[in-house]
Amino acid sequence: MTHAPMAPTLEFEGTTPYEDYVRAEVLTNLQKPLSDDPGEMVFLVTTQVMELWFTVVVHEWETAARALREDELPVALAALKRSTYELAALNSSWEPLGHLTPAQFNSYRAALGEASGFQSATYRRLEFLLGEKSPAMLVPYRGAPRVHAELEKALHAPGLYDEALAWLARRGHAIPAAVLDRDLTTRYAGDPAVEDVWHRVYAGDENAEECRLGEALTEVAELVWRWRNDHLVATRRAMGAKVGSGGSAGVAWLEKRAGKHVFPELWTARSRV
Ligand code: HEM
Repeated sequence: MTHAPMAPTLEFEGTTPYEDYVRAEVLTNLQKPLSDDPGEMVFLVTTQVMELWFTVVVHEWETAARALREDELPVALAALKRSTYELAALNSSWEPLGHLTPAQFNSYRAALGEASGFQSATYRRLEFLLGEKSPAMLVPYRGAPRVHAELEKALHAPGLYDEALAWLARRGHAIPAAVLDRDLTTRYAGDPAVEDVWHRVYAGDENAEECRLGEALTEVAELVWRWRNDHLVATRRAMGAKVGSGGSAGVAWLEKRAGKHVFPELWTARSRV
């Protein structure tokens, strides 16, 4: 005799447990397009989806930074690994916006006014964690005290790479004091002695923990570079060389940023191995 498979529960006292957990009703009521153009919806939702991914990635990198500080390498590596899968998902969310024609983008562009992804506070936290620090980046949030305070804390906190270098120093690698005690509110610029350390790591045992950390960070750096470059190309397709809604030169400004790699010595040391 065959039994019918059990059917899902249909009766609940109040809202469904799914709703209580996911808050889908809140989430799916946050889409308020500013124009009548039917193409604006996917622009808004893609931006919101990316904000959610930024939030998850910030969470992973804060976990990884804390774990490195506490000499818990496996915890750090697991968080970095998760973040690479999430970054891959984030990057594939460019698909719906990667093929806009200038006329399609123009259909709702004016409605966006001065709004620009440049003003994303969570993206800025993500960049701070990568060592792309600058006090000037706090200025847009002067009118939003909670966001400002959170970003200010992140500005003064060590980033992912700062924690990785401190971890290497504790393991006996010759990271200079000037790097370990650097002004954390400025952009990490690279140091020849740090390149020497990565060179020795990469010339040695590839199964060593140092090398595994180096590769995990390289993976992150590559995926960040890909996000920036996919954004650049999507922008070039949608608006050519026009100025950005956030007031920058647009593509020319983005090109400069997309040309750089984070964790610089992990890239330069490779030429010497
Ligand atoms: C085709 C659609 C898009 C175009 C044409 C575009 C255009 C631009 C431009 C011109 C800038 C430079 C700042 C400015 O003057 O506004 C910029 C920055 C930025 N955009 Fe977009 N964008 C698009 C989609 C997105 C999406 C979906 C996101 C996701 C949140 C996003 C996030 C950002 C971020 C984070 C920055 C600052 C980058 C940095 O600080 O290096 N953009 N965008």
